Amino acid sequence: MASDTPDAAAPATATGPNQLAAAFGRELSLASRSVHADDYINNHRAVAPPMHVSTTFRYSRDPEILKQWSNIDPNAPHDSHIYSRDSAPNTTRLESVLSSLLGGPTLTYSSGLAAFHAMLVFLNPKRIAIGGGYHGCHGVIELVSKLTGLRQLELESDADLAQLQPGDILHVETPLNPTGEARDLAYYRRRADELGCYLTYGVDVILHSGTKYFGGHSDLLSGTLTIRPDHAVTPQPDGKPNWVDGLRIERLFLGSVMGSLEGWLGVRSLRTLELRVVRQSESAQRLVDWLAAEINTPGSEVGGLVAKIQHASQQPEAQDAGSWLRKQMPNGYGPVFSLWLRSEDHARRLPSKLHLFHHATSLGGVESLIEWRAMSDLKVDKRLLRVSIGVEGWEDLRDDLLQGLRAL
Ligand SMILES: Cc1ncc(COP(=O)(O)O)c(C=O)c1O
Repeated sequence: MASDTPDAAAPATATGPNQLAAAFGRELSLASRSVHADDYINNHRAVAPPMHVSTTFRYSRDPEILKQWSNIDPNAPHDSHIYSRDSAPNTTRLESVLSSLLGGPTLTYSSGLAAFHAMLVFLNPKRIAIGGGYHGCHGVIELVSKLTGLRQLELESDADLAQLQPGDILHVETPLNPTGEARDLAYYRRRADELGCYLTYGVDVILHSGTKYFGGHSDLLSGTLTIRPDHAVTPQPDGKPNWVDGLRIERLFLGSVMGSLEGWLGVRSLRTLELRVVRQSESAQRLVDWLAAEINTPGSEVGGLVAKIQHASQQPEAQDAGSWLRKQMPNGYGPVFSLWLRSEDHARRLPSKLHLFHHATSLGGVESLIEWRAMSDLKVDKRLLRVSIGVEGWEDLRDDLLQGLRAL
């Protein structure tokens, strides 16, 4: 009789998610984990992950081991599934890589906003403190407010923060969309601890729009929630399911799972995460330094058109080696920055003068994008352009911006 204990018949080389750390006696680098963290799931001889489209998976033929809502295959215990609204091979593999990279159990969703929604449904706070940043999250809060009376408070206001109570959420976006500036997570962690609140983008839950850097090729929509490991322990002190099980059960009913194609694309993209993002961030830094120097040079032709640049590297703390910003972003300040042109008309026209930047929304892909931000966010200043740097040569991007500005 086949056993349904997960590891009973697994190949010796495929013992589980911690097998590599055990073999090396230490945690491997992010670059290595991006390529190998899901090896334990791969019980096929193919090196590249297969694409599975099935929505449903056969139960065991042995009636003796049939167990409700369980379908462990002893030959592939980590790749056992029932129905793809719960789990499926490609998204499971993606989740295993992300859990390794992000340092906590990670669930995937059909988009970043679907992940944000799932988190609000699960934690069901009475209040959420949130600053500016991505406008879509404010849209989700409005929807949830309609159902639960959730109240939105202002993150930057001490008077508002004082109204938060245990079980409420502090939502900290960093780096900020669209400006690329960062926020001090350690500061907000301290505030959340004082208030007994949950902190997103810090420790309790990390929310990512996987559509951006994880996908990285402008071809997949996804969102992820990473849970602080001690919230994933069973049993929880209050007797409820642990956060990961709870979120997974709720996802089954929300139905906002990622598709298998997206899961497959996600794994493929994560293999090069570090290569892409480090390069994108370095190129962005060179461009920001060049633009900032131009803006500050009296009489410069660039400065005549561009009034201001915003990026985490331009925050004063970037100059202070001991600052929270340098600690929080030791490997670079990210590929997104914002430009404020002197006139709305120029901001509207600059994208049409460029050859290497697509005029499009979103960010994080290998292609450089520029967006006259008023196109997708009706409330922003109409002189604002958001820039997301891709993997092209930075000098080419610089020359493109220069010729585009001259053409204005
Ligand atoms: C900070 C932030 N949060 C959430 C989202 C939503 O992600 P998605 O578009 O994958 O739903 C975005 C998308 O731009 C974002 O920038």
